[in-house]
Amino acid sequence: MTTCYYTASSLDGFIATVDESLEWLLTQDIDEEGAMAYPGFREGLGAMAMGAHTYEWIVHHGDGWDYTLPTWVFSHRDLELPEGADIRLTQADVRQVHAEMTERAAGKDLWIAGGGELVGSFADAGLLDEVWIQYAPVTLGAGAPVLPRALDLELIDVARNRSFLCGRYRVTGALTAGEDVVV
Ligand SMILES: NC(=O)c1ccc[n+]([C@@H]2O[C@H](COP(=O)([O-])OP(=O)(O)OC[C@H]3O[C@@H](n4cnc5c(N)ncnc54)[C@H](OP(=O)(O)O)[C@@H]3O)[C@@H](O)[C@H]2O)c1
Repeated sequence: MTTCYYTASSLDGFIATVDESLEWLLTQDIDEEGAMAYPGFREGLGAMAMGAHTYEWIVHHGDGWDYTLPTWVFSHRDLELPEGADIRLTQADVRQVHAEMTERAAGKDLWIAGGGELVGSFADAGLLDEVWIQYAPVTLGAGAPVLPRALDLELIDVARNRSFLCGRYRVTGALTAGEDVVV
């Protein structure tokens, strides 16, 4: 069982603009049957978690909520949930949520969908195993950072999917290189 952060990013490391727009991403070309695309990733999943803004974006754009995976949404608010959806709101510690997700996933992988700070909380607790990033050919200059932590990662797979450069990384621990360097 692997806990993964799977997301798309600008080349300069942002997952949304300052005003939370994803237009720069939605206009890109991707082959859904191609390398490291979401449908193939989805097959291995047993549960997912996300922050409130990511959830609200999904609900209010496109076709709304069409996920069937058991989902944990982190929020301090009493967000409205789609009727019949397998979603629960939580403010619990990520360790507790991870344990609940693991139980429901029954051996399948866990997807932490973002944002970056929430994924960072899982990494802080030593609960993040892999990072899958689809880099779009744009720079945003500023926005929501993909993963605002200092981590060492090992590149374990790489591919091109149309306009995306796709990387799959294993999280090996906190960043150690250059700790003694004073700049
Ligand atoms: N490029 C991509 O593929 C991609 C993927 C994911 C997200 N996004 C976008 O990136 C942006 C990310 O937004 P974001 O960084 O603000 O992240 P977010 O994680 O989606 O939302 C942050 C919110 O989550 C809640 N939260 C986080 N940790 C919590 C905790 N431990 N306990 C309780 N609540 C917690 C809080 O909500 P409350 O204020 O309700 O308490 C917090 O304000 C969004 O615009 C999203 O659409 C893009």
